[in-house]
Amino acid sequence: MRARIVGTGSYVPERVLTNADLERMVATSDTWIVERTGIRERRIAAPGEACSDLGTKAAERALEAAGLTAADLDLILVATCTGDSPLPSTACLIQHRLGAVRAAACDISAACCGFVYALAVGEAYVKTGLRHILVVGAEVMSVITDWTDRSTCILFGDGAGAVVLGPADGDRGILSSHLHSDGNLWDLICVPGGGSRIPPSDKMLADGLQYIKMKGNETFKVAVKTLEESARETLSANHLSMDDLDLYVPHQANARIIKAVADRLELPMEKVVLNMDRYGNTSAASIPLALDEAVRAARVKDGSLVMIAAFGSGLTWASALIRW
Ligand code: ACO
Repeated sequence: MRARIVGTGSYVPERVLTNADLERMVATSDTWIVERTGIRERRIAAPGEACSDLGTKAAERALEAAGLTAADLDLILVATCTGDSPLPSTACLIQHRLGAVRAAACDISAACCGFVYALAVGEAYVKTGLRHILVVGAEVMSVITDWTDRSTCILFGDGAGAVVLGPADGDRGILSSHLHSDGNLWDLICVPGGGSRIPPSDKMLADGLQYIKMKGNETFKVAVKTLEESARETLSANHLSMDDLDLYVPHQANARIIKAVADRLELPMEKVVLNMDRYGNTSAASIPLALDEAVRAARVKDGSLVMIAAFGSGLTWASALIRW
């Protein structure tokens, strides 16, 4: 038995932060940001608006699209690195808000790859007999962004996306998932403080260790390499070629990374979903947000062959191939 996506939804906060706004905060320019990243604006959560608030709204929309209610859910998986608090899981908060009284719930931590990892876990559970699984990617990246660091603050945004998985019949559904990690590269992207290694303290806050640190250039190169390898691995595992692919939905980190990958794969950009111009990098939310927009814009049709692919902190990289 295969698992299939039976509904998608997304939600972004109302507040828009443009590149012009950033020009007033750090030494940068709209031209530099657009040329180097493809990002024009991003959404920022309101004060007091937390990860579960965004995730719940995206989940409600995905359930509505699936024609299901929260009581139908067996399991809720939330991919995030910016949950409401260390305990409890954000998944439990969303479970409560939705009224998903039968569902088990837990978070998955794989940074920008979190949604692809969570989808793969959900897929495995559908294969074992669970019927309806909610997979959410939700992030409030603005709280772990150092708004004085121009090399990172231009990149990130807040948002959420969600899908509902159910059992598939025939040829449709998730054909395969491919998950990878290399912890040797842990320091390419990390938030050093706030956990058990460097617990919260006045010194930790004064040193800014609660914020994302990133080696941008090195990350860029690894991203291009791993995304290319993932795409080839995924298609070859299914005896399919790049020509068979209808839509490529990559993690929305940087338009130049995605263009470099598409060039190497000889994949026309018309087959690539790009929305980071409006949302920036929303980490685990980026793929389900882009996927939901593509579905609602009818870029994904019954029978379409869709690949999702991500890389992120860990280092992790992952992809999945879906026959819609
Ligand atoms: N505005 C203007 N100038 C800037 C800015 C800015 N916002 N940021 C950096 N610069 C300057 C640098 O200081 C440097 O100046 P110098 O040459 O005088 O030293 C120059 O621009 C070039 O800097 P680079 O870092 O080489 O710029 P690059 O072209 O690599 O772009 C970027 C930087 C956008 C961060 C890029 O490296 C990138 O996108 N990397 C990948 C990041 C990523 O995808 N992370 C993903 C995962 S995040 C997660 O998992 C949570």
